[in-house]
Amino acid sequence: MISEQTILITGANRGIGLELSDQFAADGWVVLACCRNPANAEALQTLANRYPALELHALEVTDYAQMSSLSAQLRERSIDILLSNAGIYGPRGANFGRVKAADWREVFEVNSIAPMMLVQAFVEQVAASRQKLVAVMSSKMGSIADNGSGGSYIYRSSKTAVNQVVRNLSIDLAGRGISVLSLHPGWVQTDMGGANAEISVGDSAAGLKTILQVAGPEQNGQFLEFNGDPIPW
Ligand SMILES: NC(=O)c1ccc[n+]([C@@H]2O[C@H](COP(=O)([O-])OP(=O)(O)OC[C@H]3O[C@@H](n4cnc5c(N)ncnc54)[C@H](OP(=O)(O)O)[C@@H]3O)[C@@H](O)[C@H]2O)c1
Repeated sequence: MISEQTILITGANRGIGLELSDQFAADGWVVLACCRNPANAEALQTLANRYPALELHALEVTDYAQMSSLSAQLRERSIDILLSNAGIYGPRGANFGRVKAADWREVFEVNSIAPMMLVQAFVEQVAASRQKLVAVMSSKMGSIADNGSGGSYIYRSSKTAVNQVVRNLSIDLAGRGISVLSLHPGWVQTDMGGANAEISVGDSAAGLKTILQVAGPEQNGQFLEFNGDPIPW
């Protein structure tokens, strides 16, 4: 019998994280669905009722004490895919002349620092798994090579920074057989992407899931779009 595979997803209560939780659970995966406030996460609760293997866990990704407690609680579990998905955009219109330092710090904490802390907290559970994959939901807006339009200093730089974290981890954890990659979900119709975005959350998650379920050492250190295309750093 093939043993169960497990994915941990942060920011699982809405948007891309919620849809990925649904799609992985439908495929028979154990889903450790993390969100800030499980008691208010109605859509996730509905999924947990539908899929007994979907578990809700409280995690504010910048609360590193809570992260450490959750890791201790899950210390006997193996995590095939550790997916850092939670993210924020920060104030809209943070263009030249309108960037506030406090806003920048807040976005950096969530988008750049917390993903690193998540990997440090859960690396043993990933190392104990079969697939041994860490994935970070980044954004093409973090690509320096792709930046032809400027603006959005805060969000762009937070994703550029986390891309460097991914690249570093892909080198530092390779010896333990752990693969690490950055993902761009496309411009997706979520609260963050807005109603005018190019693709549905279902299509984005389906593409991401296809990448995630097979990714391994060959994808280590890559930055991939939801359709599998590589993105220049
Ligand atoms: N949508 C796009 O077009 C797009 C494009 C490129 C990249 N991305 C990236 O994809 C990821 C998911 O985006 P989305 O479109 O699904 O966004 P979304 O609909 O705004 O959802 C964001 C999720 O992150 C959670 N979150 C935010 N801060 C958190 C924190 N401090 N602790 C725990 N959870 C937190 C939110 O939880 P709450 O409900 O508690 O706030 C929510 O579950 C993000 O990393 C985003 O940067 C999105």
